[in-house]
Amino acid sequence: MLEKIQQLTEEAVAAIEQAASSTDLDLLKAKYLGKKSEILAALKSLKDLSPEEKPKVGQLVNQAKIKITNSLSERRAVLQKASQKATISKEKIDVTLPARGPRLGKHHPITLVLEEVKKIFKEMGYVVAEGPDIESEYNNFEALNIPSFHPSRDMHDTFYLKSGDLLRTHTSPVQIRYMKKNKPPFAIIAPGRVYRRDADVTHSAVFHQVEGLLVDKKVTFADLKGTLSYFLHQFFGKNRRVRFRPSYFPFTEPSAEVDVECIMCSGKGCRVCKESGWLEILGAGMVDPNVFKAVGYDPEKYLGFAFGVGIERLAMLKYGIDDIRLFFENRINFLEQF
Ligand code: PHE
Repeated sequence: MLEKIQQLTEEAVAAIEQAASSTDLDLLKAKYLGKKSEILAALKSLKDLSPEEKPKVGQLVNQAKIKITNSLSERRAVLQKASQKATISKEKIDVTLPARGPRLGKHHPITLVLEEVKKIFKEMGYVVAEGPDIESEYNNFEALNIPSFHPSRDMHDTFYLKSGDLLRTHTSPVQIRYMKKNKPPFAIIAPGRVYRRDADVTHSAVFHQVEGLLVDKKVTFADLKGTLSYFLHQFFGKNRRVRFRPSYFPFTEPSAEVDVECIMCSGKGCRVCKESGWLEILGAGMVDPNVFKAVGYDPEKYLGFAFGVGIERLAMLKYGIDDIRLFFENRINFLEQF
């Protein structure tokens, strides 16, 4: 019995010295001093021992308990110190490191391009006008000579509201609003958001346009061409190729579309320009007499030109961005590049 206790004590102390964590120590404590331990069992069997043996065994058991308890607390202290040291070195603050500066905010590329477009036209004497995103069907379509059977009135292109109003599909309704309230001559640009049920790498359901409208007594297509060529060369630089193509808009006659050479592929053809080498960025034309009639202007007395330009397109070309969705994701590493 005595030998057994001696041996258990040595075994316990050895195991405790090897323990790697306080959980291990808890387990060892239970094993050697717990209710089911052999040492405790020895204490319980004291009553069956002879009177000579009793004190010897009792004393040894007590010594064993003290020895094991001491080595447990010694080991616990060692482990605790080591883990404290690890935490301290992990959490150490290097006060000599330079502080991180505050991150500066930047303007969104769409804002930058809008400001630049406005600046170029303001220098030519244009003033800025605005209209609401929610428009009447009349201002967005009818007054602009877009009959109800025109494809752009199809549900697939337009977000209609329950009220019968709609999210404007272009900034052209601002022409109607402005002409109803003002008398020519004037020259305005109208920047803003527009909405279409359309989305891919070059189309977003929400995007920005800048509308232009100039009305006076004597205005020619040459004025339109000169104005837009000047604008594009200011914006893209004198070397960028631009072309005017005959086109059709219900609210202008004659109409043109203006393309800029694709800068992603330098005109060779790529995903962005749909292999054409050109990106369409402007719709334009002479104000259709029916539009003047809709706002109560005498088409015999006034002439004008109008244009609409897509801001995302301008920004994609200017900065070489090949996916329109980047503008709306608000990823800081994208925005920081401008
Ligand atoms: N509103 C036309 C569009 O969104 C652009 C345009 C504006 C064309 C003015 C001609 C004149 O495509």
